[in-house]
Amino acid sequence: MVVMEKNNFPGRLTPYVVICWLLAACGGLMFGYDIGISGGVTGMNDFLIKFFPKVYERKQHAHESNYCKYDNQYLQLFTSSLYLSALVSSFLGSKLCSIKGRKLTIMISSLCFLAGCILCTAAQHLWMLIIGRVLMGVGIGFGNEAVPLFLSEIAPVQHIGAVNILFQLLVTIGILIANLVNFATLNLHHIGWRVSLGLAAVPALLLLIGSVVIPETPTSLIERDHFDKGEQVLKKVRGVENVEAELQEIKEACLQAKLVKHPYKELRKKHSVPPLVIGIMLQVFQQMTGINAIMFYAPVLFQTMGFESNGSLLSAVIIGLVNVFSTLVSLFGVDKFGRRVLLLQACAQMFLSQIIIGIILITKLADTGTLAKGPAIVVVLLTCTFVMSFAWSWGPLGWLIPSEIFPVETRTAGFAFSVSSNMLFTFLVAQAFLSLLCHMRAYIFIFFSAWILVMALFVVFLLPETKGIPIDSVADQVWKKHPVWKRFVKDGDSPEFQA
Ligand code: BGC
Repeated sequence: MVVMEKNNFPGRLTPYVVICWLLAACGGLMFGYDIGISGGVTGMNDFLIKFFPKVYERKQHAHESNYCKYDNQYLQLFTSSLYLSALVSSFLGSKLCSIKGRKLTIMISSLCFLAGCILCTAAQHLWMLIIGRVLMGVGIGFGNEAVPLFLSEIAPVQHIGAVNILFQLLVTIGILIANLVNFATLNLHHIGWRVSLGLAAVPALLLLIGSVVIPETPTSLIERDHFDKGEQVLKKVRGVENVEAELQEIKEACLQAKLVKHPYKELRKKHSVPPLVIGIMLQVFQQMTGINAIMFYAPVLFQTMGFESNGSLLSAVIIGLVNVFSTLVSLFGVDKFGRRVLLLQACAQMFLSQIIIGIILITKLADTGTLAKGPAIVVVLLTCTFVMSFAWSWGPLGWLIPSEIFPVETRTAGFAFSVSSNMLFTFLVAQAFLSLLCHMRAYIFIFFSAWILVMALFVVFLLPETKGIPIDSVADQVWKKHPVWKRFVKDGDSPEFQA
């Protein structure tokens, strides 16, 4: 990735740019739809009868433990396999992006996703379902690498921060749409789950059409020595003829990026420790809040508590709505309150929500039977307060902060580590949650809240504020002044450019 200074270059927010954003943003919808869809499908009886008859049997027997109804490694693999293949393919995606460009990578991403989607929708056997999910994961891995890159390179430089959060907003909208679809297809017997899985093709199809229509980014063209074409595209997307200054800066940034031959080696040096630790840990912590236990499994979690299928899916829709609207808060809050305040406030709110949910379930939900109506409503409300605080803090900031703390030489490599930590821990939560729920019962919420305490300590002691700090001054203004990180970064620690 080539990184530019936040200069103001001449240019308008042209309709052409907005259309490019909208088309490419379907990548965010595609990702979000997947997060939201699998939990609802997992709870559908027709789906269970076809692929997981044992889980269906267990679900029917009231004498079995509430908490273990869905404990099945294959059922979890249905959700998690996508993230495992996304983890591997995001590294390949970043290579493909630089060698063949963002446009082609986006096109391949949507094609893989569509192929996977067809396989899942038509699945007759479990292996078809899993291979379908793996292919969709390849699409997600490529897309999550190429789409945000495309969006930020096409955006006028002063809008890059907002575009970053826009991607997260689209992810949450995708989750909400999936929740709504699951709610609508619940009563379509036999084919409900097929419709739910099949509709994932809509954002992927839009992305495919988008990938034909959108231009290659000027940066990607210049990076691959297509200078004239790069200049032409830049003029078109900015809507002005005078693009000389920006063009010059892109060229310099490309040159600088090419001089760094071994970014991964650079990351192993002592002065890379602060951004690397923060970039990775923010993503690990983001997942260890337990957010995806809710996003993936809210419908089955609510069924565990005794809700009917309908009530569970409706609760998931409410949570999806809260998620979207609270993400909007972060659009305004990030630069107003600062990163640390938002993260710490959210830790307090998430901690309290989880602890109270845990206590209610421990005391009120026995191994058999259901939760009474009053406590059930309180649990749904607390889940909303939990998701709300995640959505205005750790959700977007888990992605934003890693994108603004690495110096230019290690930005792509450092960010790739951050993204893959996210995928790895998303996979682990998806694969382990239902089993953990079975073994730890309601104490699983206490387990997640313990992680939230650790995260809060991490923010207090190890996460300096980066609000308003220009990207190239992070070393001087942040690390060198921090009581812990100053030991890692010294004057003259400039990176080595190897020509
Ligand atoms: C996380 C996802 C999560 C989503 C919820 C994102 O920031 O990376 O794992 O499902 O937020 O909105």
